[in-house]
Amino acid sequence: MFLKIAHRGASKKEPENTLRSFRRALSLGSTFIECDVHICKTGELVVMHDETVDRTTNGRGKIHNKTYQELLALDDGVGEHVPRLQEVIELVHNKARINIELKGRGTGHVLAYTLAAYYSAGWKLGDFFISSFSRRELRAFRKLDRETPVGYLLTVNMFGAIHFAKKINAYSVNPNVHRVTKHFVNKAHKNNLKVFVYTVDTPEQAKKMKEMGVDGVFSDCPEEI
Ligand code: G3P
Ligand code: CA
Repeated sequence: MFLKIAHRGASKKEPENTLRSFRRALSLGSTFIECDVHICKTGELVVMHDETVDRTTNGRGKIHNKTYQELLALDDGVGEHVPRLQEVIELVHNKARINIELKGRGTGHVLAYTLAAYYSAGWKLGDFFISSFSRRELRAFRKLDRETPVGYLLTVNMFGAIHFAKKINAYSVNPNVHRVTKHFVNKAHKNNLKVFVYTVDTPEQAKKMKEMGVDGVFSDCPEEI
């Protein structure tokens, strides 16, 4: 099966990483939704791509210097608020799987404890998929959680990535659309790793990825591919 993962929600049409964007992705029938997380000053996991609020809100400054109440006062796009991860998990639950990308320092550790609480409350391993470019955060997550599927995101050093992914018992390697090759896909598959490619926004690119044998793609507009 070729997976289409709604990247930051339906982020071509809605403000990225907002509840509005995730709701739209669900209404389009997305079965897999990606979001990015950081930790704010008061310790909550919050959903945002950059480490500062500058690009996506009407505020300025680093997320880790702001309390959640301060973040809540910001406009995250068309009147949306900056969501806590829990809001996104509860919105998506039983409608789609959620891919949580560990962005900020310390997110691996905090997320492992957060998921443990969800598992105790009945959520299933298959509800979650964790990924990161950061080996440090993936290792920290794996130290506490040995079972949730994880994906290693990469830009360069493609074959070193397979080695690292195996070491942390990853489910997938997630390369950039401009770097992935058929040779890489074959090598990953030989090592029992799935390949999910970011970011694929045209039907032509999607077709090329399918032909290469990749297992799924991240897209800002999953309905168009
Ligand atoms: O997980 C795929 C993709 O989201 C990685 O890049 O910069 O959009 O987080 P970025
Ligand atoms: Ca991401």
